[in-house]
Amino acid sequence: MTDVIRVDPVSPDRAALKPAADRLRAGALVAFPTETVYGLGAHAMDPVAVRRVFEAKGRPPHDPLIVHISRIEALNQLVTAIPDAARALAAQFWPGPLTLVLGRATAVPDEVTAGLATVAVRIPSHPVARALLELAGVPVAAPSANLFSRPSPTRASHVLEDLKDRIDVLVDGGATNVGIESTVLDLTGDAPTILRPGAITLEALRKVLPQTVIASPGGRGASASLPSPGMLDKHYSPRVPMTLYEGTGAVDAIVADARLARNRGQRVGILAADEDRRKLGAAGGVEGGPPLKIVAVASADDADGIAARLYGALRELDAAGVDLILARGFPARGGIGLAIQDRLRRAAGNRIAT
Ligand code: TXA
Ligand code: MG
Repeated sequence: MTDVIRVDPVSPDRAALKPAADRLRAGALVAFPTETVYGLGAHAMDPVAVRRVFEAKGRPPHDPLIVHISRIEALNQLVTAIPDAARALAAQFWPGPLTLVLGRATAVPDEVTAGLATVAVRIPSHPVARALLELAGVPVAAPSANLFSRPSPTRASHVLEDLKDRIDVLVDGGATNVGIESTVLDLTGDAPTILRPGAITLEALRKVLPQTVIASPGGRGASASLPSPGMLDKHYSPRVPMTLYEGTGAVDAIVADARLARNRGQRVGILAADEDRRKLGAAGGVEGGPPLKIVAVASADDADGIAARLYGALRELDAAGVDLILARGFPARGGIGLAIQDRLRRAAGNRIAT
């Protein structure tokens, strides 16, 4: 049984959150909203609770979790040392969608870090996450609250779709704001290295740490002996095959390929921008063919809107029962655009048409 507690996203009722926080501290699995996506929380210092997270998600045990804390003082028990770089970044970006990979203290269970010598930590900014973490009073390990390899959840309904009756509590705080997962930055190597792009951008990080670099896709982190598991290809994927169309001719190519697929009798799903709708009308072809499902995320110029709607759109296309998804890429003009491109490419399992 999953108990659902609904709270106000801006000023959550602490009395309503208290039982969830108590259960979290006692070893229960509690899903909750953060500013990025919903997390599936467990007491990070309780190895049994952490193992249940992996079971509930069907996540392989070699994929480490992010530890969430409410105050910077809580870092001391988790890491070997707090480098100046971490202090500078925390002052600028915490609470917020930035995860720092630091040297791991021995007190952190192997289950959390997948046995790595490092641990990933962040202070989320979502009022519900902050209140829950404060009330729990313990560090909380929380991956995204989806089944392994499904798109991360940006609404409580997405969490239930994947994890109903596999978790103890779901705190419903409405839709998340950012819509894609935090930036993961490794501070244990020679240069600060972005392992996963997110809303805290390369440009923003370089203002604090000018040496910051991005790990090459599929490459190794600056220090880890394994590539960050979140960098595995085809990590965030819809259930049906998806092809990503990049470049200027993307929408025309989607129209052409959608027509061909429908002529073969396939049900086609299309992920597009608002302004593509008219062109895409042509993909509908003749009346009476198999259904065509178009989901427009936002205007192509509105990167924040695209990020916020992206995972919900992928889930909507999946749920529509289409046979294949044709997705429009968005040029990564810097900012969060890089993270959007990264997630779309992964969702497509690198099946990219240009
Ligand atoms: O926004 C987010 O980060 C969300 C919310 C819930 O906070 N969480 C999230 O967790 O996306 P998850 O488990 O889906 O992704 C965690 C990422 C993975 O790519 C994992 O490989 C990486 O963080 N990670 C965790 N610990 C690491 C470590 N010690 N070294 C390198 N990468 C690590
Ligand atoms: Mg995840």
